[in-house]
Amino acid sequence: MSTEPGPPARAAVAIRRRDSGDLAPLTAIVERAHAERGYPAVLPADLVAWLGAARFKASFVAVEGDEVIGQVSIAAAAGDAAEAAWSEALGVGSEQLAAVKRLVVDPSREGRGAGRALLEAAVGAAHAGGRWPVLDVHDRESRAVELYEAAGWRLVARLVVPPGAGIECATLPVRCYAGPPPPRP
Ligand SMILES: CC(C)(COP(=O)(O)OP(=O)(O)OC[C@H]1O[C@@H](n2cnc3c(N)ncnc32)[C@H](O)[C@@H]1OP(=O)(O)O)[C@@H](O)C(=O)NCCC(=O)NCCS
Repeated sequence: MSTEPGPPARAAVAIRRRDSGDLAPLTAIVERAHAERGYPAVLPADLVAWLGAARFKASFVAVEGDEVIGQVSIAAAAGDAAEAAWSEALGVGSEQLAAVKRLVVDPSREGRGAGRALLEAAVGAAHAGGRWPVLDVHDRESRAVELYEAAGWRLVARLVVPPGAGIECATLPVRCYAGPPPPRP
């Protein structure tokens, strides 16, 4: 029998709250996602501000071993370009919604469950605040659309948002999704 060692075991993906030390590796990840995945379509000049905006109520990172490989944030839905679309489709005020934003995984680390685990963390945080998680995604982000639909998210509206209206990559049609509603108190 061969005694050749196999490939090194891969560390499992873990999720934890983001801290300020994570922003430097995350900006590099967003630069790679922009170059390789076209997300975001327009690379913001200040990526730390784009990731760390005060409107984000909570942010989580996916880590493999000690290495940060992706992130997600949640924000109030009020003021978002998709606010009315989500609210009308679900029949609830936007104060009852939490918007999932800035979901991104290092392109070299895709396909090992980080995106799904980050989405679950965002859903958990929305539910912990009694809110219904929602998000918007461009039609062309096919990996993300596949992830949301595989996770049971529901397409509730479509929008065409004019450039500059606050949705990332704002020149293409946008799909609005709803996640699982919060458990009844
Ligand atoms: C979308 C994204 C976050 C997915 O991250 P990921 O870590 O690869 O996701 P996962 O490994 O958890 O895979 C989740 C699902 O994505 C889909 N997926 C994964 N790998 C895929 C591949 N190679 N091809 C197509 N779909 C794939 C599958 O539906 C998968 O479901 P499964 O877990 O049942 O297999 C990542 O591709 C990304 O950062 N894309 C660019 C940024 C972006 O579009 N963000 C969304 C903005 S709204």
